[in-house]
Amino acid sequence: MILGDKIISFNEIDSTNKYAIDNYDKLLSSTVIWSLKQTGGYGRFKRKWVSPIGGLWFSAIFKPLKNKNPYDYVKYFSIAICEYLNDLSVKAQIKWPNDIIVNNKKISGILSQTVYNGSKLVAIIIGIGININNIINEDLKDIAISLKNLTGREYNLSKVLMEILKRTNKIKKKYYSSVYERYLNRRWRKCFAYLEGDFITVSLNDGKKISGTIIKIAPDNLILKDENESIRSIYCGEII
Ligand code: BTN
Repeated sequence: MILGDKIISFNEIDSTNKYAIDNYDKLLSSTVIWSLKQTGGYGRFKRKWVSPIGGLWFSAIFKPLKNKNPYDYVKYFSIAICEYLNDLSVKAQIKWPNDIIVNNKKISGILSQTVYNGSKLVAIIIGIGININNIINEDLKDIAISLKNLTGREYNLSKVLMEILKRTNKIKKKYYSSVYERYLNRRWRKCFAYLEGDFITVSLNDGKKISGTIIKIAPDNLILKDENESIRSIYCGEII
């Protein structure tokens, strides 16, 4: 089965990620859960994810036998979304690790979650939120933007979803094997908003902030030289 073969859709749900986690044992790999609206959508760091009608809110479940690195699945989707938006003449870029931004405002966020049975990884859930036709709340307007804001037109959500799934399938198929990891990373890096040499500030999980120059954006971490010339590897955080 590939993404798009089985889509479970809702008019309203608390969270498509939560549904996928709660029902992981009944869902086949590559099933997509899509809802027109979420009442309890959440993002990274357990933040609330505002999900009104008009946006694209969905999750995909994978039960991989081989590639069990959740971040590779995030990469497949982020490349697909970024390239799709670029093809609509929207200058979307990936903001490490999981955001898609346009003019420094967030258009899409990706959340990966995993389900374990003991020590065995049994499911990877990739949740995706994209601001498409939805109205952006006044208090989020400085940091978020929708596709409609950018192009002045409305989009058919199911067509956008199918297009993103189609593109993600292609990318996944092409780079699934670890042999092609560096080609995947090359394509991923082409979409980056920040590159080696840029001076950035990263907020860490514990609330601490580190500023420094990017030395390398590695496949699963960010290497910075901080103001004291120390080299820091950052595995989880957010560029602010
Ligand atoms: C982030 O930027 O922190 C990630 C946001 C992920 C939001 C999506 S919307 C569909 C899926 N269901 C959720 O509750 N969250 C993800």
